[in-house]
Amino acid sequence: MPCAQEISDYRNDEVLAMCRAGDWCGVVEYLCKGEHKPLLLWPRPTINAIEFIEKHLKRNNINRLLSLGCGTGLLEWIIQCAVKELNVIGVEVDEEWWSSVYAPPVFHPLNYPNDSAVTESLLNESTALLFCYFNCEPAWMEYLAKFKGSLIIVCGPVLGSGTHSNPQPFQSLTEEWTVVDGIKIGNTHDSIAIYARIK
Ligand SMILES: C[S@@+](CC[C@H](N)C(=O)[O-])C[C@H]1O[C@@H](n2cnc3c(N)ncnc32)[C@H](O)[C@@H]1O
Repeated sequence: MPCAQEISDYRNDEVLAMCRAGDWCGVVEYLCKGEHKPLLLWPRPTINAIEFIEKHLKRNNINRLLSLGCGTGLLEWIIQCAVKELNVIGVEVDEEWWSSVYAPPVFHPLNYPNDSAVTESLLNESTALLFCYFNCEPAWMEYLAKFKGSLIIVCGPVLGSGTHSNPQPFQSLTEEWTVVDGIKIGNTHDSIAIYARIK
């Protein structure tokens, strides 16, 4: 259960007001320049990082982005604002907790693993997957085993940064996937790696 300080940290009126106004560039600037608030979002995405994701989605004719472990959905909201024609689907576990009074504000609708939007998206070849600071290897292996698409985006801390995610960007996934591009996010310890299907 989060403490009072944590709750006031993520009930962030400034971010909520910018979201209500649709000011995604303002949110990005706030996340980059303000105090790091991992309860809202672990990485601090830059406009450059969002454009990098957009470039790869468009190059691969992706029309759906399935973000596994989206948390508050703030990154998903930013991407949805930046890439209007994309359908961004956020996925979390534990609906009861996310519906409770202890949950942080949610910026983009949450779906759960058995929802048809999730199961259908995994089978759709025009879907890309996003793992941002994901942290459960058996779960990502299970998602990959079902996934029929050809693009995966992994965002997280690089090796040696003192923070961990699983998968980490640039690590090997399964033999079906290879890294084709990557970018460091601003002056942070985070990177984004793009994986393409080779089998
Ligand atoms: C460290 S948080 C990252 C949240 C967000 N992506 C961010 O970068 O701020 C990892 C999230 O993955 C979620 N998660 C764990 N297992 C999952 C699963 N099988 N499917 C979807 N989400 C899962 C957790 O509930 C948690 O919110």
